[in-house]
Amino acid sequence: MSKTKVLLVGAAGETGGSIANGLLENPIFELYALVRPRSVQKPAIVSLQDRGMQIRRCDLKGPEESLTEALEGIDVVISCVGPAEQQDQIPLAKAAKRAGVKRFVPCGFITVAPPGGIMWLRDEKETVYNHVKQLRLPYTIIDVGWWYQLSYPRLESGRADYAMTSANNEIVGDGNTPMGLTDLRDIGRYVARIIDDERTLNKMVYAYNTVKTQNEIYDLLEEISEEKIQRNYIPEESVYTRVLAARQSSETYPFDPVKFIPRYLAEYQLSWGIRGDNTPENAKYLGYLIAKDLYPDFRPVDFRDYLETVVRGTAKGVYTDRMVSKVHQRAFPRTESTDSLYTRIFPRTESSDSLYMR
Ligand SMILES: NC(=O)c1ccc[n+]([C@@H]2O[C@H](COP(=O)([O-])OP(=O)(O)OC[C@H]3O[C@@H](n4cnc5c(N)ncnc54)[C@H](OP(=O)(O)O)[C@@H]3O)[C@@H](O)[C@H]2O)c1
Repeated sequence: MSKTKVLLVGAAGETGGSIANGLLENPIFELYALVRPRSVQKPAIVSLQDRGMQIRRCDLKGPEESLTEALEGIDVVISCVGPAEQQDQIPLAKAAKRAGVKRFVPCGFITVAPPGGIMWLRDEKETVYNHVKQLRLPYTIIDVGWWYQLSYPRLESGRADYAMTSANNEIVGDGNTPMGLTDLRDIGRYVARIIDDERTLNKMVYAYNTVKTQNEIYDLLEEISEEKIQRNYIPEESVYTRVLAARQSSETYPFDPVKFIPRYLAEYQLSWGIRGDNTPENAKYLGYLIAKDLYPDFRPVDFRDYLETVVRGTAKGVYTDRMVSKVHQRAFPRTESTDSLYTRIFPRTESSDSLYMR
């Protein structure tokens, strides 16, 4: 039987890396990565090539003809682009339609939330989904829980710092809102199942591993680490204030990271922390299929096992390739008050502080 040819956009990224691993483990797929020319020599791409991935050089922002060429012969396209690049998937979807792609997986991989004004990032994705549907391009939308890797707070001893993106030291509201969690490494294994399944064609799928509240996460980490973790509760009103301030500030230049990062972080807190959007029950209500129902034999990474590796010092951090330089860290030192990815991905600036750290 011939293999399913899958082309991945964003293979050097965090979600893309997980998906590349999940698909490379499975011999039914022949894997291609669409990589922009400037990134072809990235260590992550070189290492994927060594493992059998083929490269098609192309930039999503390039001419549509070159995108169509890059998709020639491809059965499934999976996109994992970052927040600022969601609209760049529209030409990709058009090219996929022209190239006769049989299934398009746009960049979902976000937590569950209803469209239409709760989260800017969600709505960016929904705009792409609407274009896909207007093209009548066969699709599957895959969403996931909050990554295990971003879910736990810092330990006072500093033992977990090596794996952390930020101090993550805020409990939203009373900390009792349940949310779905997924180990980043499981995403690719779920995707391998989902794209080989007729039941998921033209459907949304929610792939979560477990449901926990923030208080439960703190309790578990305290038990494993035998350290007391200070609980810094952020009242609901403060979350709304942050959301409003970040929305106002990002109105003029919504694609400036200094504007959109504080906005989507505040809106995430609103969505999963206050509204409780990111649960399997809500996903079902919104029309998602649930990966646990589809694949009852799937064995995800256990959350406790994951936290034990964090405390032991053997977990792998995320976004470590985007750490700000030591010089920047000296200029913009991290503080305990930040709960954002912001310090790691982009150095903090006065304007971002005043927006977000109010
Ligand atoms: N559930 C959660 O907890 C959670 C957490 C974080 C993110 N997410 C979601 O996951 C999605 C992916 O985020 P991520 O953090 O995994 O992404 P990421 O690590 O920033 O990677 C993005 C990838 O997109 C590629 N790309 C961007 N523009 C491109 C272009 N013009 N042409 C070709 N390739 C391009 C980049 O290529 P280069 O290598 O060339 O730069 C990079 O490999 C996001 O949209 C977000 O919604 C979810």
